[in-house]
Amino acid sequence: MRILFIGDVYGSPGRNVVKQYVPKLKQKWKPTVTIINGENAASGKGITEKIYKGFLDAGAQAVTLGNHAWDNREVFEFINEAKTLVRPANYPEGTPGKGYTFVKINQIEVAVINAMGRTFLPAIDCPFRKMDEILEIVKKRTPYIFVDFHAEATSEKQAMGWYLDGRVTAVVGTHTHIQTSDERILPKGTAYLTDAGMTGPYDGILGVEKEAVLNKFLTTLPVRFEVAKGREQLNGVVIDVEPKTGLAKSIQRILINDDHPFYE
Ligand SMILES: [Fe+2]
Ligand SMILES: [Fe+2]
Repeated sequence: MRILFIGDVYGSPGRNVVKQYVPKLKQKWKPTVTIINGENAASGKGITEKIYKGFLDAGAQAVTLGNHAWDNREVFEFINEAKTLVRPANYPEGTPGKGYTFVKINQIEVAVINAMGRTFLPAIDCPFRKMDEILEIVKKRTPYIFVDFHAEATSEKQAMGWYLDGRVTAVVGTHTHIQTSDERILPKGTAYLTDAGMTGPYDGILGVEKEAVLNKFLTTLPVRFEVAKGREQLNGVVIDVEPKTGLAKSIQRILINDDHPFYE
């Protein structure tokens, strides 16, 4: 049992990388389930139905989101019908879409949960208490539980890792677009990584054309963000799972760019 997760896919460069590398990564790692964070997949802002389906065609079984979930209005037209598209679960009651889903592969069911931190992000419901609620339901169905915790603060992410240690298969962070190198198996068996990093432009700033971001820092005036051009990268993580318990055996980061080449 193995999980492959791809960090925040940013714009068309990110989608190209997914098309190019996800089949190769699947061949190399042979994951049981592949999950993609797609909150920035449409020009850096949100996701469309075509992009969601493109990710499924590329070999993913589930797509997670984050604070950019609503940036492309098309999402409201298909999120309720998109079976394996999840947005942060701790949005208030009545928010379109769902916060967790089950992916079935052969006889195995994997729960995929998306939650969002509240530090430097919108003040939505408590992600910790929401996880308690969801786990009560999910654990009756499967021991295989993947959590994409979309948050800014490393402290909040570590807190979630410790909070869920021994209760889920993995807690992997997203949102900052910068991969951290703190992958580990926590003492009670949960795989943890503060941030998986992003998939898309390699020479921008978090995916954005660097000149615009620099201008913003230098002038403090509002600027228009464009998706960066040029070289590309893929960031993700692979987690091996103990079949009986659903706890993690190992966790390994994936980082593919011109400085870290891919070996088949
Ligand atoms: Fe993102
Ligand atoms: Fe985000």
